Amino acid sequence: FEDKSSREGLQENKTFQIFKLIILQILSTLEVDRAILAKEMKLFYDDLHFDDFVKKDADKLAEKILENAREKQSNKGAEQENEETKEKIILSKRIEEKDEEIGALENEQKILRGMATSGIVTASFSHELGNLSGVLASRTDELIELLEEKSPQNLYQNTPDFLNPYILIEDMRKQDAKLQNWLKFSLASARKDKRRRKSIILSNYFQNFKSTWSNVLSNRMIDFSYTVDNNKLDIRAMEIDLDSVFNNLLVNSIDSFLRQKQNNKREIMLKVNTTDKEITIDYFDNGEGLSQDITDPSKIFNALYTTKRNEHTGEEIGTGLGMWLVDTIIKEYNGNVKLLYPKNKGFGIRIAFIKKYQRK
Ligand SMILES: Nc1ncnc2c1ncn2[C@@H]1O[C@H](COP(=O)(O)OP(=O)(O)O)[C@@H](O)[C@H]1O
Ligand SMILES: [Mg+2]
Repeated sequence: FEDKSSREGLQENKTFQIFKLIILQILSTLEVDRAILAKEMKLFYDDLHFDDFVKKDADKLAEKILENAREKQSNKGAEQENEETKEKIILSKRIEEKDEEIGALENEQKILRGMATSGIVTASFSHELGNLSGVLASRTDELIELLEEKSPQNLYQNTPDFLNPYILIEDMRKQDAKLQNWLKFSLASARKDKRRRKSIILSNYFQNFKSTWSNVLSNRMIDFSYTVDNNKLDIRAMEIDLDSVFNNLLVNSIDSFLRQKQNNKREIMLKVNTTDKEITIDYFDNGEGLSQDITDPSKIFNALYTTKRNEHTGEEIGTGLGMWLVDTIIKEYNGNVKLLYPKNKGFGIRIAFIKKYQRK
């Protein structure tokens, strides 16, 4: 740029002209961009809000049509509905049903959110809980050591159990072991690598499953056994999904044993079988079996369906989510579940997957 000789400003020479053009071009490019974005945003806005208007109108319309139809029905109006009105009524009914379905789904979601949150909380405190679990292992031993110095065990030979600190500490030790086991359990279930899809060898998985639950099961005198006909059999899955399926089945079996009146040997059995086409996992317990009140057994797979109630108040205490989770997870893996009715009256279920073509 060059100064004017009068110092009023810049000379309008070629450089100045080009500079002006550059500025104009930049502005026009910005304007084009702005217009493109603004147009898209307007379309998006219309799309969103148009839908709202249409929805509200449609809902009102459906409500009105149904109201009219019901009124007519109750008046036993002689006039026959014509085809078109009938069709309208069918559509309106369907809309009403859909609304109810959505309401039920929203309900499920609420419960799942609550459950998920408790999982998240455990996962975020896993470090702290892990430390706690470590302390549980040794604290009673330390206490006994200290006590031995000042008042050794033999001082209490003639003391009743409830006044004997050694006996009390022994009880505490057992409680600690249980607590530690539950902590280990919930910490393991929150582990991140369980949320990755990977190849899982079923015989390893069930071996692990059995040892995780072993304390809980032996405390309740429940015998758990499993067989896998092919030790190398693997499936691609997220471990957390397998846990959801088998933990829920197991928890239901334990519930069933606890409700059982007579005291026979409590057994849970799991059998994995493979054919050319299918992998089947049969799961049995010899508990009470499905309650007599259940007229349609397939209902137990519905979300929120539960027969578990407080004996005294009749209030529902089950969540009704276990079997629903089992069903939805297996379906997600393109499998299916089917109830089996074992002869010994317990509970049985078959999970089947189509075997995918496997490359050697
Ligand atoms: N092992 C079982 N033995 C007997 N009944 C069972 C068993 N598993 C499930 N059920 C029945 O299926 C219902 C639904 O189970 P579930 O979805 O896990 O919900 P919840 O356990 O909270 O009741 C139970 O209320 C019970 O009636
Ligand atoms: Mg359950």
